[in-house]
Amino acid sequence: MPGQIPKTFIDDLLTRTDIVEIIDGFVPLRKTGSNHKGLCPFHDEKTPSFTVSQEKQFYHCFGCGANGSAITFLMEYRHMDFVTAVEEMARRAGLEVPREGSAGPARDQKLTELYELQELVVQFYRKQLKQHPEAERAVNYLKQRGITGELAAKFELGYAPPGWDHLIKALGLSDAAQKRLLKAGLIIQRDQGGYYDRFRDRIMFPIRDQRGRVIGFGGRVLDDGTPKYLNSPETPIFHKGRELYGFYQARHAGKNLQRLYVVEGYMDVLALVQHEVSNVAATLGTAATADHLESIFRVTPEIVFCFDGDEAGRKAAWRALDISLPLLRDGRRVFFLFMPEGKDPDDFVREHGKVGFEDLKKYVPLTDYLLRELTRDFDPGIREHKSKLIHEATPYLRKMPQGSLKQLLQDEIAGLTSLDKSIFDQQLMETKPKPQSYPVKVSRLQRKTERTLLAQVIRLLLIKPKIALTIPDFDDLANINLPGTDFLKDLIQLIQATPDITLARILETWRGTKYEKRLSELAPIAESPYEKDEVDIHSEEFLAIEFSDAIASLREWSRKERIKKKTSKVSSLDELTEEHKTELRNLNPKARIPPEN
Ligand code: CTP
Ligand code: MN
Repeated sequence: MPGQIPKTFIDDLLTRTDIVEIIDGFVPLRKTGSNHKGLCPFHDEKTPSFTVSQEKQFYHCFGCGANGSAITFLMEYRHMDFVTAVEEMARRAGLEVPREGSAGPARDQKLTELYELQELVVQFYRKQLKQHPEAERAVNYLKQRGITGELAAKFELGYAPPGWDHLIKALGLSDAAQKRLLKAGLIIQRDQGGYYDRFRDRIMFPIRDQRGRVIGFGGRVLDDGTPKYLNSPETPIFHKGRELYGFYQARHAGKNLQRLYVVEGYMDVLALVQHEVSNVAATLGTAATADHLESIFRVTPEIVFCFDGDEAGRKAAWRALDISLPLLRDGRRVFFLFMPEGKDPDDFVREHGKVGFEDLKKYVPLTDYLLRELTRDFDPGIREHKSKLIHEATPYLRKMPQGSLKQLLQDEIAGLTSLDKSIFDQQLMETKPKPQSYPVKVSRLQRKTERTLLAQVIRLLLIKPKIALTIPDFDDLANINLPGTDFLKDLIQLIQATPDITLARILETWRGTKYEKRLSELAPIAESPYEKDEVDIHSEEFLAIEFSDAIASLREWSRKERIKKKTSKVSSLDELTEEHKTELRNLNPKARIPPEN
């Protein structure tokens, strides 16, 4: 991979380009007030709720919650990865993308060699499937599994012939070439020296990443031998937790993906594609990860998990539910299609065809699945059952982002248990108490208010970063003992260093850092409450006043906290050191503190 793109370049790029111009090229926008509006390209709608702010260089859809910078837009709308999106924007701006560090090109060269080598290997195995004397067995196997020649070609299936050195003889002629094969995991080093082919007498499935590069292989035996599948090991270019088999082909199968089926097996992918269900991908023998799901949600709003009808499949489904929850912002949907006992999607589609597989009535919505599991043996007549349900549902609800789906689920559980909605709401908002960091008991409700206040301050700064400059000294805020203080402190520093920074530039500065997630939660909130208002709440003056009010309240709260903390640590005021007393007097001139002696 090339060296990193310097952050300064990205910042530069965002300053030079205009998000309105970029998005308008794909989505017709109309100017309304200070923003531009259009029909959201990320969900179906009839009235425009997709807004683009020139000032913030930020887009946001009130309907589905999609939001981000021009770079994010290209990534999500044009299905580009980050680097490609940056390159595309640079091309439009007539700039060359620089790369960091001199170590970059060398490393880059090595990886390129690996990718190129894998392409040759794909061709080698494909050729064996056509020509090798033993290949007939492989061809027969594929035929018997119902895979046509056309499909085999589409997925570039190949054959690793029996024998220890076919690949080495073909592609490992020099020492350097052997080293590369070894690095790609295609050959294995013998203890006594020398190498042998990893894949022998197996059907070969090349695995392409989202950019279409071959990163590894899966190899299946032709009979009941073990292991059934052998895969490339983790290599510098192959990471199982990130890639999905068939995803590249699915994305290039036609128009925008309405949904993506996620299955467990290579053969499931092939069977479904054979039956014209081309929007399918498989995890690589590992559980689905959040990384997987994020890359899928970048190209489609709907995932249908379709795991085998066995114990392992059911476990995988529950796990998939669990990792999906935090990603379920509005506009995204997850369903489960449960296979009959003992069947996998391959069996199912052969038996029931495309129509049977695409029977939407059978898709169980994630929230139904969750509720179904939580309410097993639930008896609404038993108070203990209701309380158990609340107790068990809480951690799952807490994982979900705010939005209509969470609200609906929450209301339904409240309904089932006849628990007052607002009480349930409050209970969910509470975080687990952390007594160590709060020597003085602060009521939970109070903590919640202060945290909201902190979020409000951050929100105002995201709307109009410049207002940070209206308050010269923030040092004391660093002592505030609330989650999010670091975020605020760093945000203020960033703005002070670059006063004309936009929301988009803040987002890109912190892409890939610990603040990325929180920022993407707060950034759209920065928009919403103001959008519908008629008052000119965008005026700097208005925002600056709100900001200074919020800061003042935070300071006041923090001052009280410090007094409480100081006084709670000593049993009598006489035990205070002089230093403490002075500080306390400064904090609270009215306090009755014994005079210095
Ligand atoms: N797998 C693996 N190693 C194994 C078994 C399975 O890596 N020894 C991975 C493969 O990616 C496989 C997936 O787990 O595709 C699912 O396993 P399974 O359901 O057994 O595979 P299928 O693709 O259904 O294969 P087949 O229908 O040929 O049995
Ligand atoms: Mn199978």
